Amino acid sequence: MSVVQKTIDPAKLAKLIETEEAEFNARHTGSREMTERARKSLAGGVASSWQSTDPHPIWLADGRGSKVTDVDGNEYVDFHNGYGAVAVGHAHPKIAKAISDRIGRGSHFAQPTEDAVVVGEHLRERFGLPLWRFCNSGTEATMEAVRLMRAITGRDIVFKIEGSYHGHGDPVMVSVAPPADKIGPYDDPASVPQTLGIPREVSELTRVVPFNDLEALERTLAKHEGRVAGMIVEPAMMNAGFVLPEDGYLGGVKERLHAAGALLTFDEVKTGATIAYGGAVECFGVTPDLICLAKSVGGGLPCGAIGGSDEVMDWISSGKIDQVGTFNGNPLTMAAMRTTLTEILTHDAYTEFDRLAEILRSGCDGVMERSGIAGYTTVRSARGAVTYRGERVRNYRDFLEVSDELGYINWLVQLNRGVFMAPWGKSENWTLSVQHSEADVRRYVDNFQQLADALV
Ligand SMILES: Cc1ncc(COP(=O)(O)O)c(C=O)c1O
Repeated sequence: MSVVQKTIDPAKLAKLIETEEAEFNARHTGSREMTERARKSLAGGVASSWQSTDPHPIWLADGRGSKVTDVDGNEYVDFHNGYGAVAVGHAHPKIAKAISDRIGRGSHFAQPTEDAVVVGEHLRERFGLPLWRFCNSGTEATMEAVRLMRAITGRDIVFKIEGSYHGHGDPVMVSVAPPADKIGPYDDPASVPQTLGIPREVSELTRVVPFNDLEALERTLAKHEGRVAGMIVEPAMMNAGFVLPEDGYLGGVKERLHAAGALLTFDEVKTGATIAYGGAVECFGVTPDLICLAKSVGGGLPCGAIGGSDEVMDWISSGKIDQVGTFNGNPLTMAAMRTTLTEILTHDAYTEFDRLAEILRSGCDGVMERSGIAGYTTVRSARGAVTYRGERVRNYRDFLEVSDELGYINWLVQLNRGVFMAPWGKSENWTLSVQHSEADVRRYVDNFQQLADALV
């Protein structure tokens, strides 16, 4: 059950949602028609289940710089950025050139090309782990990490954080967004499959622990002593708004896992190359045994990478584990990754992200302070989110208490006023790109002010 802050009249909020939904519907006849047409050939009328959102999906036509345009001709500043995969911005001229240069010389060989080495060398320097392999998505990267942790330790149980998403592989599609009535007690959370089709035996091998609680981790490790292969952790929870690790938490996780003979994987699919130049490793000062990357490192192309310590990656180098894929190291992806990492997401990009992030943080916090809306803004470089809760969210169970309605109305208000956010309300965060301007981020703050004026 979500909680609406006392300062907000629920009737006023419901009325505002109604008005904004009417406005939304009026502006998107083309998208509605596309959805109807698509239902006849695409299951549910979309390419991926999580593109199916209320009131209906928005069909995009173009993206240039910091902006996208939908099929109805509405233009938006893009804060969605393809779930954070386009921190380079849309149609970046350097990416366009890298891809067109490469495609003219062949787009796929399933044999290594030089760009793969350049990217490997760069990732090694940037994320502090020596050896890398490529795959094609965040899901593949986390699947490889789980398999490696199991193979190396010879153990089957994997820990994950309650409320974290690590892609759609069976072992991690557990307790991703579990409903409050299914999660079980805080001391002993249930492993709740996110979808049908995951065998009980598989989901039971995934045990969940709350974020930011080292004692709970210790207790759970003791309960499964000698059976835990490792833990996959999103260093900051990025699918529950934006929940930061408390000081010492990630280091404590690493210590406790190693003491139990288990390994630590950071899922940096969302944090890597967005929250700092060196991702969570740089931002929080902890280097795990394995890192999963995808999204923003690929400059908008399908991509994935997994990095590990010498000891870990020797299991692949020596041939004990097959890490494979026809499209691994695909030349187009490698060309885009090389350009993204070495020419676009450079140190200077993060200086500018930080400057824009501060405008968003101070702007949104200022709006909430003046209006009395309980909440706070979390930013780290290209990423940020507003959380509608007076007290800081530490874990998924706190997050459940955040108002769904406020997340939704902010999404509607932003969208109706030219800012495109990912369509999952309170669960989502924004991603800036190197092509975003000060005017772009001020637009978000101005819209947020209009929301506050209408609500309070
Ligand atoms: C933290 C995290 N890990 C893994 C994934 C899966 O990545 P992909 O959608 O590329 O498979 C996602 C996707 O949103 C994610 O947010």
